[in-house]
Amino acid sequence: MAARRIPRAIFDYADGGSYTEGTLRANCADLDRIEFRQRVMVDISSLSVSTTILGQPASMPLAIAPTGLAGLFHADGEILGARAAAKAGIPFCLSTMSICSIEDVREGSKEPFWFQQYLMRDRGFNQELIDRAIAARCSALVLTLDLPLLGERWRDVRNGLMVPPRLTLRNAWDLATKPVWLTKVLLGKRRTYGNLIGRVGNTDDMLTLSEWTHSNFDASVTWRDVEWVRSRWPGPLILKGILDVEDARLALATGASAIVVSNHGGRQLDGAPSSISVLPEIVEAVSGRCEVLFDGGIRSGQDIAKALALGARACLIGRAWLYALGAGGEPGVARALAILREQLRVTLALTGTKSVAAAGPQMLRL
Ligand code: FNR
Repeated sequence: MAARRIPRAIFDYADGGSYTEGTLRANCADLDRIEFRQRVMVDISSLSVSTTILGQPASMPLAIAPTGLAGLFHADGEILGARAAAKAGIPFCLSTMSICSIEDVREGSKEPFWFQQYLMRDRGFNQELIDRAIAARCSALVLTLDLPLLGERWRDVRNGLMVPPRLTLRNAWDLATKPVWLTKVLLGKRRTYGNLIGRVGNTDDMLTLSEWTHSNFDASVTWRDVEWVRSRWPGPLILKGILDVEDARLALATGASAIVVSNHGGRQLDGAPSSISVLPEIVEAVSGRCEVLFDGGIRSGQDIAKALALGARACLIGRAWLYALGAGGEPGVARALAILREQLRVTLALTGTKSVAAAGPQMLRL
């Protein structure tokens, strides 16, 4: 539905990955290959999918991943996502590269949300973002480590993706066939990066996402910069983009509350392993010293169950929530979350697993 309702360039921005999209495909294919053990005659009448994430109650082991440009999938996309997540009882993470600003989401949704940051060359701006996240009472800071520069996404190059989107000769027919999107988003109040406007680089006249990223993101960042963030952010810190055991150990040394095992949804290093294939070794290396969150390829409750079985505390969804947002706005996201929750419940039940805490490798045919 999202593919029908939103312009091609916006849909492809979410749907695609970097270069050959090999890692993107592997994320889903490797999850698909895992088989459950079907168990019978276990009393699952009191089964619950509720859990805690970073010590906070969550109705299921799921959070909405930070995704740039969500507000181009549907007008006020980030506000709608935050509301749907709050109603479903799970965390919502706002991206630095969102269309709605931190303050827009704070005003539009009652529940606290997570905020995700990239480190910019202008470190003063990072400080300002941290201050804004504190003022908005964000409940966790997610620092994304796997994007010191942008992995080229050929679909974006081919589609000439521009932010803010523009009506050009090339996309005129596409936009003409998306009248609802055109009136609500293109003519809506925000069409560019709400957190950055007037502050970083030139957000009104940008050429390509990669050129803009190149001139504003700090390619010199190291673990020292994580310490810098740690010293300035008083709440839980989540380090996102860990795909290697060695990096998991270095992340632990920073005192982070959680890591996200992630290859950025196959959007950065093409040829990197799928997230699910490295999850067990990272869980083992961390050995309970911080929470291990997981993303990459989660499209169903069965996928969530597989990640839990391999040691994830909870999963994040990127594309799944964006497709839902593009298809149906807030009710669309609410429906997607309800579907995932029910699939997870049924899957736990049929593997004889009575709770999220009881999930483990015994659920799988390894
Ligand atoms: C992302 N992702 C991402 N991550 C992040 O830390 N900051 C960001 O701004 C973005 N932006 C973004 C945009 C889009 C369109 C996508 C699809 C993804 C990565 C995201 O948080 C997550 O790691 C992946 O999306 C997980 O993979 P799945 O669920 O999309 O397969």
